[in-house]
Amino acid sequence: MVGVAGPTARSVIVRFATGTLMAIVVAVVGGYFVLRSVAIDEAKQQTRVRVKEEAKLVGATVTDALLRGSGKAQEAVDNAVVGRVLTNSIVRVKIWSSAGRVLYSDEHAEIGGHYALDRGQLHLLRHGGAEVEVSDLSRPENRLDRQQGRLLEAYTRIRTPSGTPLLFEIYQRFGSVTDQARSLLGKLAPPILGAIGLILLVQVPLFWSLMRRLQLGYEQREGLLANAVTSSRRERRRVAAYLHDGPVQDLAGLAFSLAPVADDAETRGADREAAVVRTVIDRLRGTVRDLRALLVDLHPPTLATAGLEAALGDLVSPFPARGTKVELRVDGGDLLGLDTQALVYRVAQEAVRNVLAYAEASNVSVEVGVADSTAHLLVADDGRGFGPETRERRRAEGHLGLSLVEELAQQAGGSLTIDSREGAGTRVRLEVPIR
Ligand SMILES: Nc1ncnc2c1ncn2[C@@H]1O[C@H](COP(=O)(O)OP(=O)(O)OP(=O)(O)O)[C@@H](O)[C@H]1O
Ligand SMILES: [Mg+2]
Repeated sequence: MVGVAGPTARSVIVRFATGTLMAIVVAVVGGYFVLRSVAIDEAKQQTRVRVKEEAKLVGATVTDALLRGSGKAQEAVDNAVVGRVLTNSIVRVKIWSSAGRVLYSDEHAEIGGHYALDRGQLHLLRHGGAEVEVSDLSRPENRLDRQQGRLLEAYTRIRTPSGTPLLFEIYQRFGSVTDQARSLLGKLAPPILGAIGLILLVQVPLFWSLMRRLQLGYEQREGLLANAVTSSRRERRRVAAYLHDGPVQDLAGLAFSLAPVADDAETRGADREAAVVRTVIDRLRGTVRDLRALLVDLHPPTLATAGLEAALGDLVSPFPARGTKVELRVDGGDLLGLDTQALVYRVAQEAVRNVLAYAEASNVSVEVGVADSTAHLLVADDGRGFGPETRERRRAEGHLGLSLVEELAQQAGGSLTIDSREGAGTRVRLEVPIR
């Protein structure tokens, strides 16, 4: 198969499920807060009604003596508060004078305390009504209420028998509010989650079939591509085999058989004839060399069938046509394993390509040898050579030929040495342990 891995049904479904799960979590958490705020509003409304009722009840026991701090007056209020107002949910009752003095509290230690009333409270004293808020336990007047946790604080106005307005305050536990939100959520969650689940159930098969189709399409495309690649490779191999066995052999044979004709013409003194035949022979050989180079491009020789020496022979075949003398020596090539042969060939290929492309050399030699269970390859030319900065520059431009084979050599546990200077030729040497 060619290319990157395709999407799998599993990965897409996992992503889909994670997304859905996250959406559910967000909906539940968001829902809780919405319901909680609804419950708080509801509780505030109830508390507003309640504070008025309790105020009526307690207000009936308030006398003007309470303003002066009379113990008796406080006791009368206390009886009503403790006996009839304080419950599990109403945890504190206070009565304030308009000057901010605590005239009564069921927590007796708070009586006599003095705190500035805020604007809302002063407004209440003047105009009546009822006010509810979530109490701020950090305020000093709530010092003794802190152990109760969060509270709802409700105020209303009462009057002494002589008509002095006082502030009546109750504190209600907040816990009952959150309980209410929770129970609301508990009631609403099952139908909501059920609906989401149902939607999911309907979607999953649809989703699955879409996924299958997508995947099939992907696999088909991949298959076609792979097919195209192998068939083009097969085609090239076929053309290469045809060229190699047919035209190349024929032309080489032709050149070979024309040589005696040229000799014969020469001995007969037919110099023009001899010259023409020799030119034909040269052209034929040139064409054979070109074709062999083309064969290497079309279908790099399989080392397994042709052998290292033949493969390297093909590799260097373009040199003579360019006026470069080639020396190829392969000793002990058959001692090398296929992997090592492939590496030697690959390195030689890169080095030879470079010589052809850049060196303008008069002589080039390719040597392969084996010694001390190490194989070595040397590709040497007497061309123009190059400095390290040239290679760096080419590498920065994305030309990695030598670097890639260097890496291959290292991966095989060997090493590649490139020895070159401007004007002093180039030597590329590979050493690799035989496996
Ligand atoms: N035998 C050589 N004679 C002269 N210069 C060479 C020779 N071999 C390599 N060079 C110089 O070294 C540079 C780097 O060579 P390398 O093979 O790494 O990359 P490349 O041939 O430029 O690009 P690529 O191999 O990726 O097609 C070449 O561009 C060339 O300038
Ligand atoms: Mg190169």
